[in-house]
Amino acid sequence: MEKIRIQGPCRLEGSVRVSGAKNAVLPEMAATLLMDGPIRLTNVPAVRDVLTMARVLRHLGMRQVVLHDDVLRIEPGDAAEPDAPYELVKTMRASVLVLGPLLARRGQARVSLPGGCAIGTRPVDLHLAALRRMGATIEIEHGYMVASCPRLRGAEIRFEVPTVTGTENIMMAATLAEGRTVLSNCAREPEIEDLAGFLNACGAHVSGAGSETIVIEGVDRLQGTEHRVMPDRIEAGTFLMAAAATGSRVTVDGCPAGLLGAALDTLRACGLVIDEQGDALTIDRQGELRAADITTEPYPGFPTDLQAQYMAVMTQARGPARISETIFENRMMHVGELCRMGARIELDGQIAIVHGPTPLSGAPVMASDLRASASLIVAGLAAHGETIVDRAYHIDRGYERVETKFHTLGARIERLS
Ligand code: EPU
Repeated sequence: MEKIRIQGPCRLEGSVRVSGAKNAVLPEMAATLLMDGPIRLTNVPAVRDVLTMARVLRHLGMRQVVLHDDVLRIEPGDAAEPDAPYELVKTMRASVLVLGPLLARRGQARVSLPGGCAIGTRPVDLHLAALRRMGATIEIEHGYMVASCPRLRGAEIRFEVPTVTGTENIMMAATLAEGRTVLSNCAREPEIEDLAGFLNACGAHVSGAGSETIVIEGVDRLQGTEHRVMPDRIEAGTFLMAAAATGSRVTVDGCPAGLLGAALDTLRACGLVIDEQGDALTIDRQGELRAADITTEPYPGFPTDLQAQYMAVMTQARGPARISETIFENRMMHVGELCRMGARIELDGQIAIVHGPTPLSGAPVMASDLRASASLIVAGLAAHGETIVDRAYHIDRGYERVETKFHTLGARIERLS
């Protein structure tokens, strides 16, 4: 199993370019199931989840799913069985994003239920309830969602809680439904807006994405197009957190500040100076790092996907800092590992109190999920001595060439295979 070795402490310097957003390209790949013509996606990150989604699409009969550099070409193929098997879905729950498009385009779908994952139970009940409102029959059989509907009908649907992939799944399904669909209490993440832009470029009629109400007028067909995937705001935020934890001056290139709203406000409240020049953000630490409390929230609040990395930063700040996770019920697995490196963190359910600053010392640590592994890398960069992050495959799910990018910034970091 591959590992990442860091020799800390590292002072980072220079600039790093952000890749395309994993959480935008995954729904956009699923959306290609809706289309009649060839699709060209650019700025696609070569991360493991993208390769998994490519396998899912090939399994569903799409032809020519080829990633070369950052360009992904996909051609619709002969409709194979609309079946997303457990072996693929269990490795990436975002595979559930094929459910809406398959049902809308092929009238049926058989998609494995994703089940729980490291960060929580993460049910898909809201996806199913919405598709049923659009006329679908859905049964759970042998661990699969078996759905059918000759043609989905537009409907008015209110999500009980804002769900990112739920909003995306139903928005995609509604593009080919009969009539108008009005979705309310939608998630407002920028990746949803990016997906809507892609769908509209293919001939869909989606308006309001990025707000809590999205209206979709169904059309009969969608053609292929070319689309540039938006930048990965979580990758950008991770580099900013690494610079904050190590007291470094770093420029993160290719991500407009607007995508990082609450995270930038928080870092500034900690005493960091962040200069915005176009879509380049330069972060610098002047003086002492102060603690600031956070609560994770749906966009535009502080993102749950940066909570773990921020906790690593707070180990270096004059505390205490209160970090409250409200999106997922089990997203504190990094706490124990950070404590093994010398952090002082009290954990009560989904609330962590970080008592900093504490010097961290390098240690062998275990990654439990994608963002937890990013947090351990941030901590390893700030720690004295050698840190070895085991199970590097977690980080490869969502970060492109993580060790190369940090190496470019001057970190002593390498992959051990
Ligand atoms: N929820 C339900 N029922 C549903 C759907 C969601 O109860 O049918 C609950 C979830 O259990 C959770 C809350 O609603 O408590 C919000 O979950 P959401 O559905 O928004 O999460 P998701 O769509 O499964 C996406 C990202 C995650 C990110 C979350 C929150 C993708 C592919 N995944 O997941 O990304 O953490 O939104 O922003 O877009 C990551 O990149 O590391 C990652 C986990």
